[in-house]
Amino acid sequence: MSTPVLTFFNNKGGVGKTSLIYHLSWMFAALGKRIVVADIDPQANLTAAFLDEDRIDSLWNGQEPGTTMYQCISPLAGIGDIVKPELQHISPNLYMLPGDVSLSSFEDTLSSVWPESMGDNNLYRPMRIITAFWQVMQMAADQVQADLILVDIGPNLGAINRSVLIATNYVVIPLGADLFSLQGLKNLGPTLRSWKGLWQKRLDNWNDNTECSRYPDFRLPQGIMQSVGYLCQQHGVRLDRPVKAYDKWVQRIPEIYRKSVLNVIPDQLPERQEDDPYCLATIRHYRSLIPMAQEHRKPIFNLTSADGAIGSHANAVRDAKNEFKLLASRIAELIGMPL
Ligand SMILES: Nc1ncnc2c1ncn2[C@@H]1O[C@H](COP(=O)(O)OP(=O)(O)O)[C@@H](O)[C@H]1O
Ligand SMILES: [Mg+2]
Repeated sequence: MSTPVLTFFNNKGGVGKTSLIYHLSWMFAALGKRIVVADIDPQANLTAAFLDEDRIDSLWNGQEPGTTMYQCISPLAGIGDIVKPELQHISPNLYMLPGDVSLSSFEDTLSSVWPESMGDNNLYRPMRIITAFWQVMQMAADQVQADLILVDIGPNLGAINRSVLIATNYVVIPLGADLFSLQGLKNLGPTLRSWKGLWQKRLDNWNDNTECSRYPDFRLPQGIMQSVGYLCQQHGVRLDRPVKAYDKWVQRIPEIYRKSVLNVIPDQLPERQEDDPYCLATIRHYRSLIPMAQEHRKPIFNLTSADGAIGSHANAVRDAKNEFKLLASRIAELIGMPL
C-alpha cells in the first residue's frame, strides 16, 4: 500500500499556493490526520515558512545526509542511490521534508533520463530516478505512518514538476482572478494529460520488460493526477482595481476549468462562479494576519492575543479557522480520506 500524494499545482506564481499548503497541512494535522509535507520547489518558500533561518542553514550546510529532498536524491545524479529521509517534526501529527535551493540542478538529470526510460534495456536506473521524489516521499510516509503527503512545487512545467506530478494521486489548482492565472489554467489540463499518457507508456514498457521481474520489490507510482478542483484566491487582486475587473476574470474560470482540466465541452455552466461545484473555496485576503502569522511562525488560525490578535483580529482568526476547517473537510471528502 502506498500513501496518497496531494499536489497543489499551477504554472502562475504568487497566487498563494505555498501559504495554502502551509495552512492546510496544519489544519489536517489538527483534525487528527498524520501528514508529511514535502517542499519540492527549489525556491523553498514552504521550508522558510516552517523553519527558522538558523535551522535551514544547518540543514543546507550541515553534513547530515537525507535532511532535505535534494540530499535524499542527489546521489542518483552520480552512481549512488536514494538516501533515507530525515524528517522535521513540526507538531504531533505534522512532519516536513525540507526543500533546498540546490534542487534545481536535478532538473538536468531528470531531463536526460526521460528518453532512456523508454528504451529496451537498462530501465531500472532511469525509472528509479524519474520516480525518486515518490520513492523518498513513500519512505517518509512509512516512517511516520502518514495518512497523506502534501507537496508544494514551483510554478512551471519543467522536468522536476513532471516527476512530482507522476508521483501525484490528487491535484488541487489554486488560481488568482487575472489574465495570467487563466492563461496558465489553459495550459495546465493538456499538460497533465500529456504527462499522464507518457508515464503510462513507461509503466507499460517497464512491465513488459524482462528486467521488471529482477526487481520484485521495486514499487512505482501510477501517475493518477486526478484533479479534485480549484481554489480562487482573492488576495492577489490589487486593492485599487475595481471589483468589476475581479468579477470579469473569475466568472471565466468555470468554463476554462471544464475545457482545459476536465477536457469536456460544457453544455451547462453554473450561473455564478461561486456556485461552481469544482470551486473548493474562495480564499480571502487575510491582510495584516499574514505578516503576524509569519512573524510568529504559525498558521493564522493559531494566532492568540499574546501574538497581537486582539479585537477585530481575533474575529478574523476565528473566521480563518472555520474557513480552513471547511476546506480541509471538503478536500478530505473528495479524496476519500475520512476525518
Ligand atoms: N490569503 C492571503 N491573504 C493575503 N496575503 C496572502 C494570502 N495568501 C498568500 N498571501 C501572500 O501572497 C504572497 C504570495 O503567496 P505564496 O503563498 O508565496 O504564493 P505562491 O506559492 O503561489 O507563489 C506572499 O507574500 C503571501 O504572504
Ligand atoms: Mg510558492
